[in-house]
Amino acid sequence: MPDLAYVNGEIMPIEKAVVPIEDRGYQFGDGVYEFVASYEGRPFMLEAHLDRLERSMRELAFDPISRADIRHAVLDLFDRGGYPRAGVYIQISRGVAPRNHAFSPGMTPQIIMTIRPVKEMPAEKRKTGATAITVTDTRWGRCDIKTVQLMSNSLAKQKSLDAGCDDAIFVSDQGVVREGTSSNLFIVSGGRLTTHPLTDNILPGITRMVVLKLCKAAQLDVEESFFGRDALLGADEVFLTGTVTELLPVVRIDDQSIGRGEVGPITRRLYDHLRKQAMG
Ligand code: PDD
Repeated sequence: MPDLAYVNGEIMPIEKAVVPIEDRGYQFGDGVYEFVASYEGRPFMLEAHLDRLERSMRELAFDPISRADIRHAVLDLFDRGGYPRAGVYIQISRGVAPRNHAFSPGMTPQIIMTIRPVKEMPAEKRKTGATAITVTDTRWGRCDIKTVQLMSNSLAKQKSLDAGCDDAIFVSDQGVVREGTSSNLFIVSGGRLTTHPLTDNILPGITRMVVLKLCKAAQLDVEESFFGRDALLGADEVFLTGTVTELLPVVRIDDQSIGRGEVGPITRRLYDHLRKQAMG
């Protein structure tokens, strides 16, 4: 089965899928996206992803589209793909029009999707933990909207790879620790978990939301509040959360060990809870 693309209702092999050069997503980065993954062939948290997609479109004043049509197309792609663990990427641009910064009237949102098997994290990385660098957050002021404008995220990710690490963690000018390049971040200190509150400066991650609920169910002490780089480096455990990342321990940041430099017990426990929930 070739990897498939969906373009405005039509399904085709990915290599055949093209967009018009005057698509505003292509020319202005005027688009939003979601990435939904399946476990054992079933999409995980699909409705939450659709909620966030609708919110992103509303915040950017896109013309509305049919949620039922998107849901149907996503489920159809997972079916056709037939992979146990796959990812459907959904991207919606404002529309196609002659290049003009202002919106042209009457544009129809352009919907594309792709399906591919999820590129799993090496099992070894989950066991030994990942490494990261911190970088200054140079992103725009609405990181709560999942737009396709990911230049700062791409540059930061590449910088971390060039430094021999796995990811980068955004820290604001004022020293507030935000999130990873495609994940949210939690720290554990003295048995208590902390993650950045939902503001304009981070993405409201679906996995973050699931993990917060898992913490509460497990009666773990968790709070959503701001913390700085010292708290990050001084934490007993640090982990990242995301649809592909799942729940990934980080054991070394800016060349300093986190805790004892190995995967901590709370991280391990929450990862098991998350997998259990995802496998249904
Ligand atoms: N990224 N923060 C950022 C900046 C992200 O890009 C993502 C997801 C997350 C985690 O969100 P969620 O738990 O809903 O996946 C947090 C996706 C996977 C991506 O860019 O492909």
